[in-house]
Amino acid sequence: MALRIGVIGAGMMGRYFAGTVASGILGADIVAVSSPTAREGGLRITHPNPFDLIKDSGVDAVIVASPDQTHEEFVLACLEAGKAVLCEKPLAPSAAACYRIVQAEVRIGKHLVQVGYNRRFDPAYAALKAALDERIAGYPLLLHCAHRAPGPSRNRTTDMMLSNGAVHDFDIARWLLGEEIVTAMVHLPPSRRSARDQFDPLMIVLRTDSEIFVDVEIFVNAVYGLDIRTEVVCESGTVALEPTRLTWVNHQGHAGSAVPQSTLARFAEAYRLQLQAWVDAVSSGRIVSPNAWDGYAATSVADACIESATTGQPTRVRLEGRPALYS
Ligand SMILES: NC(=O)c1ccc[n+]([C@@H]2O[C@H](COP(=O)([O-])OP(=O)(O)OC[C@H]3O[C@@H](n4cnc5c(N)ncnc54)[C@H](O)[C@@H]3O)[C@@H](O)[C@H]2O)c1
Repeated sequence: MALRIGVIGAGMMGRYFAGTVASGILGADIVAVSSPTAREGGLRITHPNPFDLIKDSGVDAVIVASPDQTHEEFVLACLEAGKAVLCEKPLAPSAAACYRIVQAEVRIGKHLVQVGYNRRFDPAYAALKAALDERIAGYPLLLHCAHRAPGPSRNRTTDMMLSNGAVHDFDIARWLLGEEIVTAMVHLPPSRRSARDQFDPLMIVLRTDSEIFVDVEIFVNAVYGLDIRTEVVCESGTVALEPTRLTWVNHQGHAGSAVPQSTLARFAEAYRLQLQAWVDAVSSGRIVSPNAWDGYAATSVADACIESATTGQPTRVRLEGRPALYS
């Protein structure tokens, strides 16, 4: 029988997940959608109250695609109901909230939570990870990341750029290097870009367990498109993502490629593979990474960055001991 999925949130991501399940995912159906708004983007809202959707015996598993600050209560309710949940990133906006989810999962004693760090499923990132694991250019020494978005993004505060945007890069750094990040330092440009407390671009410098430095540029008003870069400097060479090309255009004496304008365009295949992996795992009684610990660890780095952006000092990432469930 197909996995019966309920989706909480019918905005950009909720609609995208629902459409992707309908058109490209094997072994799953969307049977329920919850949103406070009566009908959103063509989706019929079956459960105005998300907790009714979670408790509904006709729903096997839940996708949480509502705003960040709602994730904790919905994920905890899924755990209480014993249902698998794919929660959009970040797992929650603070490390303390993420850790409450980790503790709840540990009490149950089994994995039910997957976090929507979709880049891990992107074919280009998967190839980069495989090349690093094979040590084709030796051990990694440095990691450079850039996360440029077209904007305009007037309402994103510096804290949101870190807790909602840069967390993708924190997760990727942990995953590619296979290490925890231990310190974080955020460098701000000299002046705000808007009245809403937005410093843009940000330069973040992280250090891992084994003293690998990671720099991350976060630029939410880069204007020209969504440009996600990752390069690992290794002992005898470098391994990097290719710039993403959707098309190659020869025109009026110029040759060049079109830059994706949105995350849905850049990561369409990653979102599809992430969903299929989740459906396959849940249908066979498992959960694949990134798990609740990964969600907690990435947000712990974001918390340290937010503190560093306020104090102007390098800040230690505070991580609780890793429970055996996640070893
Ligand atoms: N993985 C990625 O690349 C990626 C990209 C974009 C967004 N996201 C994440 O997805 C989540 C949703 O983002 P979005 O861009 O779709 O936002 P959105 O604003 O487009 O949609 C949010 C939806 O949640 C609903 N909602 C609001 N409050 C709610 C509540 N209390 N209970 C239930 N539903 C509620 C809204 O009505 C809306 O349908 C966020 O956590 C965001 O960080 C992830």
